[in-house]
Amino acid sequence: MCGIAAYTGKKNGNTVILNGLKKLEYRGYDSAGIAYLQNASINILKSVGKVENLKELALKDKVNSFCIIGHTRWATHGKPSQENSHPHTGNKSEIALVHNGIIENYLELKQRLAAKGHKFKSETDSEVAAHLIEEYLKKTKNFEAAFTSAVKHLKGAYAITAMYSKEPGVLMAAKKQSPLVLGIAEDEYFLASDVPAFLEYTRKVIFLEDGDIIKISPTGYKITNAQGGNIKRKISFINWDSASAQKGGYKHFMLKEIFDQPQAVEDTLRTLPLNIEKSFSITPARAKKIKGFYIIACGTAYHAALAAKYWIESIAKLPAEVETASEFRYRDVNFQKDWVLAAISQSGETADTLSALIKAKKAGVKVLSVCNVLGSTIARESDFTVYTHCGPEISVASTKAFTAQLTALYSLAINLAAARGALSKKEAASLYKELYRLPALMTQALKTREQIRKIAKKAYKKPSFIFLGRNTGYPLALEGALKLKEISYLHAEGFAGGEIKHGPIALIDAATPVITLMPAGKTYDKMLNSCREVEARGADLIMITNECLSNAIVLPKTGENLFPIIAAVPLQLFAYYIADLRGREIDRPRNLAKSVTVE
Ligand code: AGP
Ligand code: GLU
Repeated sequence: MCGIAAYTGKKNGNTVILNGLKKLEYRGYDSAGIAYLQNASINILKSVGKVENLKELALKDKVNSFCIIGHTRWATHGKPSQENSHPHTGNKSEIALVHNGIIENYLELKQRLAAKGHKFKSETDSEVAAHLIEEYLKKTKNFEAAFTSAVKHLKGAYAITAMYSKEPGVLMAAKKQSPLVLGIAEDEYFLASDVPAFLEYTRKVIFLEDGDIIKISPTGYKITNAQGGNIKRKISFINWDSASAQKGGYKHFMLKEIFDQPQAVEDTLRTLPLNIEKSFSITPARAKKIKGFYIIACGTAYHAALAAKYWIESIAKLPAEVETASEFRYRDVNFQKDWVLAAISQSGETADTLSALIKAKKAGVKVLSVCNVLGSTIARESDFTVYTHCGPEISVASTKAFTAQLTALYSLAINLAAARGALSKKEAASLYKELYRLPALMTQALKTREQIRKIAKKAYKKPSFIFLGRNTGYPLALEGALKLKEISYLHAEGFAGGEIKHGPIALIDAATPVITLMPAGKTYDKMLNSCREVEARGADLIMITNECLSNAIVLPKTGENLFPIIAAVPLQLFAYYIADLRGREIDRPRNLAKSVTVE
C-alpha cells in the first residue's frame, strides 16, 4: 500500500523526493514523512494529511541533502498520527527507516527488543524493523550486515528502505510482496514503489524481486539475497512518459482516463493479433488441451472477469468459474486437471489476487494474468502474462484499465475459440474485425457526455441507485454501482435483471433511480419487462442500450459481446458527474487506496 521514494546522489534530493511522493499520491495515503541526512545526522519531518503540508515543513527547514528517504503511509497498525507516520528510528536517531506492508510477527519482535532496552515511540508494526537493525549494529557495526540480518527475521509483506547516519549516502532496501523499483542514473540512484516517482530523472529501472536486498550509494548498487549472494537483475527501459501521468487539461484524472479509453483500447489491441501464440504465449496445441478456466480478481477487475465468463463459455465453448480472489484463496478448491487460472489485476499487486494465484500455482495449475503494470508481482508470478497498455491509471476508481481488461479478455475468448476449432477462421476473423472497431465505437460512446451530465444533474440528490442488467449487461450493472458508490459515497446496488422480483424490487420507489443495461439480443425484451416493473413502482428510469429506443442513452449498434466494453463509458461518466455535482474528491475517494497490497 502507499509509497516509498528514496534518493542518493550528488545533488539536493529534496525536490526529487517531495515530487516523487506527490507522484505516488494515487496509491492512497493518510500521512507523509521524510528522513534526510545533513551534517552527518538524520533529521525527520512528518505530517498528517497531504504531501503539501510536508513540503511546507521542508521549505521551513531548508532541507538540503544528497540522501533522503520519503514515505506516504496508509495506516494498518496504529491510527494516522505524527508518531505513527514514517520514517521511524531506533532508540537513537542513527537509523531511519520507511516501510510499506505489514510485519506480521512485530509483536513477538517488539517484546524481544523491549527486553533488551528498546523503547517504542509508535503503535506501528514498522518501527520494530528500525530497532532490530539498531540491535544488529551493536554487534556488526556494519550497516549492510546489520540490515541483512534484521530482514531475515521479518515475516509478512514489506518494502523497506533505511539509512544510517554513520554511513552517509548508503541506503539499504529489501522487498517481499510489496513493490520496489530501482532507478539508475549517473552517480545517482532512486528507490520507489512505482516508476512515476523518478521518471523525470531516469528511464533505466530494475524491478526488484521478492527476497532481494539492495544497497545503493552515489557510486553504485548491489543486489544480494538473504545469504549475501550476489544477484543480477535485468535493467528495463520505460518508454511511457511522465506527461501521460498528468491531467491533460481535465478537471480530474478520472475524467481524463475515461477519455483516454479509445487510445488505451487501441494500444492494447495492437498487441493482440488474432494468433493465440503471439497474443497470449499459448501454443495452439496447449490451447486445445485446456478444459476450463478459474477466473479470479477483485473489485472492478472482478467485473471484467464476470464478463469474460460469458465470452469464454459462449465463444470458446469452455466452462469458466469466476470468483472474487478473497473468497477463492480460502476455499477448498478441487482443482480440475487442465484448467487454467486467469488472474485479472490492473496494479498486479493486489494481495488477495496474488495469494489466490499462488494457491493455484502450488496445486500445479497454470496461471495466465492480465495486468497493466509492467513487471508487477502478479505479472511475474504468472506462466503467461498479457499486459493491457493503458499507461498509469492515477484515479483510484478504475476506468481505462477496466475496458482494456475487457478488450484483452474478449480477444482471449476469440483466440481460444479459433485455436480450438470452436470458431472457423472466417468466424473468428469477423469477430476480430468488429473488435478492431472498438476504439472508434468508444469515441462515439464518449459523445453521450452532455446527455449524461444532464441526467446526472436531475439525479444527483437522490440517496440511492439501482443498476440492472442481464447477460453481458449484468457485470456492467455491478460495475456501474461500484463506480457510483466509490466516488459519490451514495448507496448503489447492481442486480441481475431477473433477480429483482425475488427481493430487491422492495427497494424501488420514486426516490430510487434505476439504471438498466440492455444490450440488443436475447435478453433485450426481458430487460424491457424489468423496465416496466420498476416504472410501475414510480422509479425514474435511465436506460442504456444499443437498440433504437427513445428516451434512452443509445450507444452504437454492435453485437451483444462488445456491449459491456462500450456501455462502461456512460456508466463511468454518470458516476463521475454525480460525484462532481456532490463536490466529492473524485480522484482520491475516502477510505480507498489504489492498490490494495494488504489483506
Ligand atoms: C476500482 O475502481 C477499485 N478501486 C478496486 O475495486 C480495484 O478494481 C480492485 O482493488 C482491484 O485492483 P487491481 O485491478 O489493481 O487488482
Ligand atoms: N504497516 C505500516 C503502518 O501501519 C505501514 C503501512 C504502509 O504500507 O504505509 O505504519
